Amino acid sequence: MPIREAVNPLRELSRENLRAHAAEALTRARARSTVLTDAVDDEELTRQHSRLMSPLVWDLAHIGSQEELWLVRDVGGREPLRPDIDELYDAFKHARADRPALPLLGPAQARAYVGEVRAKALEVLEKAPLEGRRLTEAAFAFGMITQHEQQHDETMLATHQLRKGDPVLHAPAPPGRRTGRVPAEVLVPGGPFVMGTTAEPWALDNERPAHEIDVTAFVIDTFPVTNGQYTEFLEAGGYGQRRWWSEAGWDYLRAHEITAPRFWQREQDGWWRTRFGVYERVPAEQPVVHVSYYEAEAYAAWAGKRLPTEPEWEKAARFDPATGQSRRFPWGNEEPSTEQANLGQRHLSPAEVGAYPAGASPLGVHQLIGDVWEWTGTDFHGYPGFSAFPYREYSEVFFGPDYKVLRGGSFGTDAAAVRGTFRNWDYPIRRQIFAGFRCARNVRPSERS
Ligand code: AVJ
Ligand code: FE
Repeated sequence: MPIREAVNPLRELSRENLRAHAAEALTRARARSTVLTDAVDDEELTRQHSRLMSPLVWDLAHIGSQEELWLVRDVGGREPLRPDIDELYDAFKHARADRPALPLLGPAQARAYVGEVRAKALEVLEKAPLEGRRLTEAAFAFGMITQHEQQHDETMLATHQLRKGDPVLHAPAPPGRRTGRVPAEVLVPGGPFVMGTTAEPWALDNERPAHEIDVTAFVIDTFPVTNGQYTEFLEAGGYGQRRWWSEAGWDYLRAHEITAPRFWQREQDGWWRTRFGVYERVPAEQPVVHVSYYEAEAYAAWAGKRLPTEPEWEKAARFDPATGQSRRFPWGNEEPSTEQANLGQRHLSPAEVGAYPAGASPLGVHQLIGDVWEWTGTDFHGYPGFSAFPYREYSEVFFGPDYKVLRGGSFGTDAAAVRGTFRNWDYPIRRQIFAGFRCARNVRPSERS
């Protein structure tokens, strides 16, 4: 059976519908940015809640600055609105810790700026030719800027999680388990599949091109590792036992005196956590979140398993053995519905495992998209045939052994900013991101058919 990649429905849209789709995507991103920045007062907007993060007002103006650069100036060929502030909002010029000291736009100025940029960008969208140039082909630049804003919305949500004080964000609780009894693990057959994408018009450079890759048969967990499972590792003394940890992981644990996932606290009656200002008992059936790569790796070793490699994760998420096709999403080629994945900050936590049976992959792996980003065992590298587009600083400058790939998006990721091919990356020490993991292992000789 020939293996191939699914086609993308965006390709079938008329030019008018494509413009409407892009405008709607930009508008949805802005609605979320507005919620995240209106939730706190001016003093909190300009304060740095953690040295790991920018002040929220920096993220807001940076969103506008990137939009001005790509949509207004480049695609639109228009005059700069604020050439004087480009440098302040260039993420490569100033480290996060140094951003509060910059002469940043204040809250009112930043809001006015992003509003002016957006009005111009929407004018540009009405007339831009959506073909003939790679940047505007299928409205790519508009999709890229939508994703950029949504990525910063997730970053701003992480800043909210780090802020102290009473809750200011509110959302309904996520659904509970809706899946009956399913096996704890799934066997993914060996053989080639199509990894990455050429068909997805809004895929970013590091997801390209589609390429065939052979994956040896392996076993992957049906669900992400839960808080309950992770607690067993804690209670077994895992954080004090050198043998589960890599050398770098052990050093990091000791240096920072890490004894549990970030935001957890031990009480007489068990583990509690702080989540967006709410102090609550750690929910046993939700995926663990706020663990570093090193913690994920140690848990997997303790469980007698390992982390999936990036190709393994993607094969489990996309490959349909019945057709040989690599899908856009585990459930098929349609955009995520609320029944398929916990995305978009609709809920402010991961859902229990088993909450999204409609989102399972053809092989029966659940919750690959949404809930928590999943650490993979793979360093961030370009695929064979990679070429940086439209700028090297989006991904290429991060290629190498310093960053690990994360897959699948979290409850804080918007549907516009994740898909079966989407690649995120971060340092293995990172814990403030909404990251968890699932385990994988090699097939045992007794399991071979
Ligand atoms: C893809 C999430 C690693 O936030 O550093 C935002 C996305 N790039 N602005 C990041 C990004 C430029 C990026 N990650
Ligand atoms: Fe950015």
